[in-house]
Amino acid sequence: MYTQAIDLPDNDRPDEPKSLEAAKTAAAANAARDRAFEAAIANDRKIEPQDWMPEAYRRTLVRQISQHAHSEVVGMLPEGNWVTRAPSLKRKAILLAKIQDEGGHGLYLYSAAETLGTSRAQMLDALHSGKAKYSSIFNYPALTWADMGAIGWLVDGAAIMNQVPLCRCSYGPYARAMIRICKEESFHQRQGYDIMLSLARGTQAQKAMAQDALNRWWWPVVMMFGPSDKDSVHSGQSMAWGIKRITNDDLRQKFIDATIPQAELLGLTVPDPDLKWNEERGHYDHGEIDWSEFWAVVNGDGPCNRERLKARVAAHENGGWVREAALAHARKQAERAQRAAA
Ligand SMILES: [Fe+2]
Ligand SMILES: [Fe+2]
Repeated sequence: MYTQAIDLPDNDRPDEPKSLEAAKTAAAANAARDRAFEAAIANDRKIEPQDWMPEAYRRTLVRQISQHAHSEVVGMLPEGNWVTRAPSLKRKAILLAKIQDEGGHGLYLYSAAETLGTSRAQMLDALHSGKAKYSSIFNYPALTWADMGAIGWLVDGAAIMNQVPLCRCSYGPYARAMIRICKEESFHQRQGYDIMLSLARGTQAQKAMAQDALNRWWWPVVMMFGPSDKDSVHSGQSMAWGIKRITNDDLRQKFIDATIPQAELLGLTVPDPDLKWNEERGHYDHGEIDWSEFWAVVNGDGPCNRERLKARVAAHENGGWVREAALAHARKQAERAQRAAA
């Protein structure tokens, strides 16, 4: 999850109390409110939309959930490119179902963020104006059919690592949305691995195509977990609030440890000459990550940033008539119901 503040008004300041007595009462009420929130976090109870929460907690969640929703929706674009070129009817049906799931994930997540008082229109504005971020991984191109395999296997695989701990997130609506999302992500990961397996067991050219996809996607996926813990500005507070449960570096390590045996089974090589099993740590050591590439992509200079945003804005504009028609239909139905009740 990559973070960039989405500007929201700071309305956490209590009204100016009129008298000393009123000031004391307000302070006591604020202290009780703070204690209730802290006790819920300490006892691992869920925070629900109607509960009081600190404004910074609300802002962090809006930023994280909306970025997550944007990632699901923008994530449909690289795969959408391959629907018409899928090698068989079966692969096409699977890919379509997978992409449709991602659209659904976006919907659950926008709805979860809306419970925090931010409208869908505000979130989409932030995305379309370039103010809000989405996962850096979707700014890389999908050049061959093998990329559909690599994206499912690696990108959805990394997403699962990141998202399973979010099922225990302290904010109820987000945690509950993640339970269903994670079930679907595991189907996505398996369909990707299945594509890789078919290619790896196919002709020399197919195996080479699978290797090439792994070569191009490996490092961007390793970077997907976000900056190293020492450079991750939001991590500490998010961990304390129970929004984030595992640090970026620990998630990255878990992903690498789980994925290397899968690459070995495919007979493919991960493009990291420094990657080796560390007996003492019980984990794989990996090579240096090129953070300059990561920041360039996050800040708008990846291979496809402009193209993705343009496609997203065009999709939104071209879908305007559908939203208008749905609203007109809902209006008509409400009028009809009103007439029938009269
Ligand atoms: Fe998803
Ligand atoms: Fe997915």
